[in-house]
Amino acid sequence: MNDFAASITFDQLGRDPCPIFARLRREAPVVLLPKLDLWMVTRWDDVRQVLSAYESFTSAFPSLATQIFGEGSVLRVEGNAHADLRAAVDTRFAHERIERAATLTREAARPYAGELRSRVELMSSYFEPAASTALARFIGLPDVDTGTLIRWARDLSAGMSNFMADPGVHERALAAATEIRQTIEPCARKAADRPDGSVLSQLLHSGCPSDTVRTVEKIMPTFIEILSAFLEPAAGAGLTLLALLQHPTQMQAVRDDPRLIRKAVHETLRWQSPNGALTRRAAKDVLLAGQIIPAGATVMAVIASAGRDESIFTDPDTFDINRAPFPNLGLGYSRHACLAAPVVGGIITALLDVLLEQHPWLSLDPGQPHNLHGWKFRVLTNLHVRIGDPARGS
Ligand code: HEM
Repeated sequence: MNDFAASITFDQLGRDPCPIFARLRREAPVVLLPKLDLWMVTRWDDVRQVLSAYESFTSAFPSLATQIFGEGSVLRVEGNAHADLRAAVDTRFAHERIERAATLTREAARPYAGELRSRVELMSSYFEPAASTALARFIGLPDVDTGTLIRWARDLSAGMSNFMADPGVHERALAAATEIRQTIEPCARKAADRPDGSVLSQLLHSGCPSDTVRTVEKIMPTFIEILSAFLEPAAGAGLTLLALLQHPTQMQAVRDDPRLIRKAVHETLRWQSPNGALTRRAAKDVLLAGQIIPAGATVMAVIASAGRDESIFTDPDTFDINRAPFPNLGLGYSRHACLAAPVVGGIITALLDVLLEQHPWLSLDPGQPHNLHGWKFRVLTNLHVRIGDPARGS
């Protein structure tokens, strides 16, 4: 037993995960953390192995996600059941729709950016409402106000990383899922009779033989899961802006050439990925990097650590938007990789583009430090900035 691994607690991980992952990569890259009752896998090759060896590591197991979304969401099924649900909605998020997603995001973002004045907290006043509004339009969501969408996504994702089993957090996540079912079911029943081109309608009809539809009960867990991801682009945009503001030379380069925003987004998904770790279950005893992971064990594929693996990335702890192009695992890997992966980069880029177009001179507010925590999800709860160029007194 590795003494360091034996000492790790959820609290330590939540506060500052990167140094812990770095030491695990060096000393114990595949290891049981007894206090957490889970195995952690921290090196690039092993993480990819966990995410792609479906016979050994399955995504289909009872989890917080199944308790909250219900059984059978796209993330928690494998094989044909997974292929069927993915195929129903993949076209909606395909590469051909990047421009559509970016255009809707710009349209949704402009009014929010126009409202920003001198000192603001950007997550709640810009990134979250702008991204949720854009996504609702992109997937063709029936009329739900932005505040409700944000609350649903926040409560659902807090519930999914509720490892400390806080009953209040769990209750709020269950309540959000119930509210979504009550709100969406009537629309789903209508769309089951009359396809309307929305994601909900695609989930019901797409790929089904004519005159048959999937049941509302079958597709609801996947629909709730999609809504649970609504704040992810806002998280990606907030983390990218934070990284740029902490690296003023790179911020200036982006100001001079906004085409670099795209590179900054990609680098952030490696350096400070909003999703830190992906959960799987060992389907049988598995030998990985010299360790036997027993059947039934919970396994964390730590993509945030893979992104800083020194055998893959030069100087991995450095944020550098000029890195040579190289894939990273920030949007997952293999068949469960992010459904929205083709369009997410464009959405985040558009959010930042509109913001910097209207407010090129942003700086971190020294009086109000940002709050960044969590390891399964890296959560930026606030990002206070000043608008105006301090050097020019504006
Ligand atoms: C910056 C934004 C985002 C990031 C970093 C992100 C990250 C990820 C990651 C890492 C996974 C893999 C999960 C696993 O293998 O366990 C995933 C899956 C998924 N994501 Fe995203 N995501 C983002 C945005 C979105 C958005 C906007 C949506 C939908 C509106 C979405 C829907 C999904 C779904 C449905 C899955 C499950 C796919 C499957 O199991 O086949 N994501 N995402």
